[in-house]
Amino acid sequence: MASKNKLRRYQSVDAMVRELKPSYPVMCFRPDRCADVVRQFTSRFPGKVMYAVKCNPHPIMLSAIYGAGVRSFDTASLGEIALINELFDDVSCYFNHPVKGRAAIESAVRVYGIRDFVVDHPAELEKLGAIAGADAAVQVRLRTPSGVATFDLSAKFGAEPALAVELLQSVAAQGKRPALSFHVGSQCVVPKAYATALEIVADVIDKSGVTPAYINVGGGFPACGMEQAPPPLDDYFDEIRETSERFGFSGKIPLICEPGRAIVARAASLVVQVHLRKDDRLYLNDGIFGCLSELLYGGIIPPMRPVRMGKSHATELQPFTLFGPTCDSSDVAPSQFALPADMAEGDWIEVCDIGAYSNALQTGFNGFHTDAFVEIHPELG
Ligand SMILES: Cc1ncc(COP(=O)(O)O)c(C=O)c1O
Repeated sequence: MASKNKLRRYQSVDAMVRELKPSYPVMCFRPDRCADVVRQFTSRFPGKVMYAVKCNPHPIMLSAIYGAGVRSFDTASLGEIALINELFDDVSCYFNHPVKGRAAIESAVRVYGIRDFVVDHPAELEKLGAIAGADAAVQVRLRTPSGVATFDLSAKFGAEPALAVELLQSVAAQGKRPALSFHVGSQCVVPKAYATALEIVADVIDKSGVTPAYINVGGGFPACGMEQAPPPLDDYFDEIRETSERFGFSGKIPLICEPGRAIVARAASLVVQVHLRKDDRLYLNDGIFGCLSELLYGGIIPPMRPVRMGKSHATELQPFTLFGPTCDSSDVAPSQFALPADMAEGDWIEVCDIGAYSNALQTGFNGFHTDAFVEIHPELG
């Protein structure tokens, strides 16, 4: 495994702050938590578990996920495929972006031996037809109903059932292996959404007369720990298992899932420092152009824990507006956070459960980029 997998290790976030006293933001990974959720998936989900690399592609996360037994990865670009292949030998990547450049498909097949793809339109299938071999599996991605998740992905991708029927038949006619996939949306808070999507799947199978090589139920499983507490993961697994049994998929058509958020969300926190206080305004060293963009785009409300060395905080809380470090006035969290009334310059805040779509999305705008990463291992003495 690559040497870049070695980071400084601390027993706790407080131990890190004590030693580094960081004036820069520090992402603190908890690989044990990541592995725990993977094991929850592999023991309860009725099929194969992949990981969606986009959610957090840091090698520490990927190694923890690999270490917990995942050998297949949902990748959306040649860059992600290359990353996975550079880190691990015995793995497979699924090229699950519904829109791919011809050259990227060609390299994916020729350089990396990719055999699994996604399409949601005949023109994309035409591209594959010319390049991917007969052993390629082509998943037809279905559109699913919106309104069940924080991030609605069917607004951008997915074929309506009638088109999906045609696409499935065309894949079979090309001599490739037809498959089906969907994504109910990220941070899905309605377990029934998977049953609804599987009902659409059953209808498409019925109308097309084509039995798919597998059904990929996508990601979307929610992160717990947020203020907006979703149902437990088991409710989602039960819904998927019961619906698959109802339609006779079990034992006949393999299921796959490709979660991102649920696996990594609780496996990282971000330690930021207060660089200036103006009344109820705190100016921090990371913000919505950095690792905290989902506070704005998803309305995510992560738990915040004040950290101060030496002297304890006031017990009285007050609401604060949190500004990020860039010169852009939109760099501000959309809701206020309750923190000790005596918050001051130099104090730190641990933004908890922020492992999903955080470091993966940061822009580097205005020269601010979080590139300090450490590991937290509570078992260290
Ligand atoms: C095709 C695909 N699969 C899986 C995922 C991961 O979804 P989540 O992080 O909600 O589990 C995404 C996220 O955008 C996706 O586009």
